[in-house]
Amino acid sequence: MSQIEQYPQIEKLETGIPGFDHISNGGLPKYRTTLVSGTAGSAKTVLAAQFLAEGIMKKQENGVFVTFEESPTDICRNMRGFNWDIPKWEAEGSWAFVDASRQPGEETIYAGDYDLGALLARIESAVQQVNATRVSMDSLGAIFSQLSDGARVRSELFRIASALRRIGVTTVMTAERTEEYGEIARFGVEEFVADNVVILRNIMEEEKRRRTVEILKFRGVSHQKGEFPFTVIPEQGIVVIPLSAIGLVQKSSDVRVTSGNAELDRMCGGGFFGIRLFWCPGRRGLAKRSWQRRLCRRGRMRTSAACCLPLRKAATSFRAMQPGGEPTSSGWSRRASYGWSAIIRRRRGWKTSCSRCGR
Ligand SMILES: Nc1ncnc2c1ncn2[C@@H]1O[C@H](COP(=O)(O)OP(=O)(O)OP(=O)(O)O)[C@@H](O)[C@H]1O
Ligand SMILES: [Mg+2]
Repeated sequence: MSQIEQYPQIEKLETGIPGFDHISNGGLPKYRTTLVSGTAGSAKTVLAAQFLAEGIMKKQENGVFVTFEESPTDICRNMRGFNWDIPKWEAEGSWAFVDASRQPGEETIYAGDYDLGALLARIESAVQQVNATRVSMDSLGAIFSQLSDGARVRSELFRIASALRRIGVTTVMTAERTEEYGEIARFGVEEFVADNVVILRNIMEEEKRRRTVEILKFRGVSHQKGEFPFTVIPEQGIVVIPLSAIGLVQKSSDVRVTSGNAELDRMCGGGFFGIRLFWCPGRRGLAKRSWQRRLCRRGRMRTSAACCLPLRKAATSFRAMQPGGEPTSSGWSRRASYGWSAIIRRRRGWKTSCSRCGR
């Protein structure tokens, strides 16, 4: 046996979470601990529970849920909306709780005094009891919250991860962070100790919340980079949208159409390919709309129909964009509804009035 064969490649464990196994190129690194960090409400607990639920439902792999914050009763109740019958799984011996949550009236636990040894023994016992291959721990902040010393957090985390690896389970461990694009976790050291880090975000954008998941690192194995959108769906749980997996199935056209600019046509080898979507990003003032106007004008001269769909601009701002300053009524009509507007060629029988103002 050559020396390299003594070090087998790191395997992946398919989580079963829709879309996640695609962006992680096959799942979570097996027998290792993955830190899942996110702000309040970013779906950390849902992911931790779903990791076990999917294992039970799809792979017949049992799990142990270690809860530091919510009581097992609350978790069972909160996850009911996803149709995960945790009490039934507990009764069947495929799910076990280790309740490390604070009991009413209990004194604050100072992490320095926290008996991690006893906790790890309880986890090991639960793992043996249900023959678990998956463990979820939610969330670390509760035991480390009183610890000001980053070095201590580092050593305790290392101790937990090593113990879980020795037991032979694949672990998801959640941690809080306070900003979507700030420190990865609260103590600023967790991400360095963890082999694998996944970030859940719940970003506010133009008065709407957008959830994304990003695999920051998987030590020793590949994964897809960047943020992927996900959603939390009743009766399903987390569904990641793996944009890179969405393939196009329609045939491509080989017909060239002019871009409206002779030089650009030459650079493209004779114009754009027709029936395509061209993404033309650029900062303000780079003449994106003027260029769009040229494209439409040339299209209109050659093929008689062109259409503009400004996704952000009001229809009125397009009046000035009419080729040669033509008024909208000379064969062209303006139509505006539901936030987009279009310039389309009038044809007999077409309803071309604006649905808002009636013009
Ligand atoms: N049954 C459900 N159906 C749909 N969405 C749900 C359901 N349950 C929870 N969610 C969504 O998940 C969010 C909370 O997820 P979760 O409790 O996992 O967040 P968290 O990151 O653990 O938050 P915290 O830091 O407060 O513990 C809710 O705000 C809601 O948007
Ligand atoms: Mg939570």
